[in-house]
Amino acid sequence: MRLVVTGGLGFIGSNFIRLVLAERAGWFVTNLDLVTYAGNPANLADLEGHGRYRFVRGDIADRNDLARAFEGGVDAVVNFAAESHVDRSILSAEPFVRTNVFGAVQLLEAARARAGCRVVHVSTDEVYGALGPADPAFTERTPMNPTSPYAASKAAADHLALAFARTYGQDVVVTRCSNNYGPYQFPEKLIPLMITNAIEGKKLPVYGDGRQVRDWIHVADHCLAVLAALERGKAGEVYNFGARAERLNVDIVSRIVVLLGVSPALVEHVADRPAHDRRYAMDAAKAERELGWRPARTFEQGLADTVRWYVEHEDWWRPVKDGSYRDFYRTWYEERTA
Ligand code: NAD
Ligand code: TYD
Repeated sequence: MRLVVTGGLGFIGSNFIRLVLAERAGWFVTNLDLVTYAGNPANLADLEGHGRYRFVRGDIADRNDLARAFEGGVDAVVNFAAESHVDRSILSAEPFVRTNVFGAVQLLEAARARAGCRVVHVSTDEVYGALGPADPAFTERTPMNPTSPYAASKAAADHLALAFARTYGQDVVVTRCSNNYGPYQFPEKLIPLMITNAIEGKKLPVYGDGRQVRDWIHVADHCLAVLAALERGKAGEVYNFGARAERLNVDIVSRIVVLLGVSPALVEHVADRPAHDRRYAMDAAKAERELGWRPARTFEQGLADTVRWYVEHEDWWRPVKDGSYRDFYRTWYEERTA
């Protein structure tokens, strides 16, 4: 298997590459990543010199970069590359359209030109929009109804990926997952932001009343689900992933406060996010039935493990929070291109 993973220096992509190299002995992985603010070489520092791993710096929206990543052959592509943060998409939608929509199309086209190349397009529950308190969880048949520019860009790419499967008979599988948490998540997202702020004694900014519900899954369980979709998914199909762990934001923040033994007075309610989706919940029955996958971790255990990981890896997140990880990257990249 010659696998190209895009966005492999980000949170989920880096966890996925580490999993694949450990679990699939004969597989070769090329990681195509643009190294945006979210792409951090430190996420895969342990793979330096690994014989079955190759890094290519490049943009999924650039055909030449895709050709460089596909050099030597490609059997499958897993597309994690994206702009992924809702709050950033509210400040500026354009990078989201460029990477998440235009980039996804360039990638689909490049894969289509390679006979037999499967594409797993990684997407999100946010394409379905928001649920009311008593609504049933999203299934793969729930109509897409995105509210944020991020979610709209992901929905556009999902439509295109499925249209390519129908129109050209291309081997494309779309996966949609609920909110992830775990090691190497950029501390702009709820859980790592709250953990690292609490360790630093900073305020814990809860948007609005904090009674929004997200359905949480540990990144390791998501990565196993993507691997199952790659190996056993049917072309042209969508698979929802989730771990039946709906939690209120305020309850998560309170749990982090308890786990770290910090003062509850750090919690501060701040202005709400515009068009803030009230609730997400995923029905993953199809993936469990057809892919033989099931999440292994409970949220309580996964959150405790994640808090411990951030406590033990200050050397990873402090440079990210103070911005100095970008200097590390410059040195790292210059050494490799000299
Ligand atoms: P992330 O922001 O941590 O990482 C994104 C990675 O993509 C970074 O390494 C970045 O450098 C790279 N990238 C960005 N633009 C690129 C481009 N034009 N070309 C090549 N590389 C580029 O994101 P994440 O949280 O790891 O999410 C990965 C994927 O999973 C995304 O598609 C996201 O929509 C999806 N997803 C995320 C979650 C979640 O909770 N984080 C849940 C469901 C689905
Ligand atoms: P986030 O991690 O940004 O993921 P998403 O918006 O993709 O679900 O946010 C998770 C939830 O936490 C969401 O309801 C917004 C909320 N939130 C806060 O209350 N405060 C924060 O500082 C952040 C980043 C998020």
